[in-house]
Amino acid sequence: MKNIKIEINLEVFDAVSELPVSIQKLMNKAHKAREGAYAPYSGFKVGAALQLKSGEIITGNNQENAAYPSGLCAEQVAIFHAGSQNPDATIVSMAITAKSLNHVLTSPIAPCGSCRQVLAEYEVKQEPSIEIYFMGETGKIMKANSVKDLLPLIFDGSLL
Ligand code: THU
Repeated sequence: MKNIKIEINLEVFDAVSELPVSIQKLMNKAHKAREGAYAPYSGFKVGAALQLKSGEIITGNNQENAAYPSGLCAEQVAIFHAGSQNPDATIVSMAITAKSLNHVLTSPIAPCGSCRQVLAEYEVKQEPSIEIYFMGETGKIMKANSVKDLLPLIFDGSLL
């Protein structure tokens, strides 16, 4: 038996104003999308914005359902929309923001495991990796340079 250590890299920004201007714009789009989330059951609103190589920005937010598992996360709404409308597009970056109606989220909210798996599918099928920026309602922003930093031991179609 031997142990292996897997290293991931994340960058941390103290405030939105520290982000590159194009990412500030992307995060603002994610904030706007977040406000339109349909989250009557959890009161937890998430917004996601994707920057395509063409310059186009595609947004999404979480959509809940009375039959809870039938709802969908913001990241998945956004990336499935991008995949359906722009099947050959390259996704350059993604901004994610979350807000709870119960308390102020002051630390970065990372995408859930299911979203990481969905994002992995899209990163693997394109050449460059996707930069992912995520935050709560306020406070620091974290950046992963690849889905692989959020999902080590990635499961993808090459294994099938
Ligand atoms: N949610 C997202 O939209 N993205 C995530 O990565 C985690 C969770 C949503 C799903 C549900 O509507 C609410 O947040 C509470 O889990």
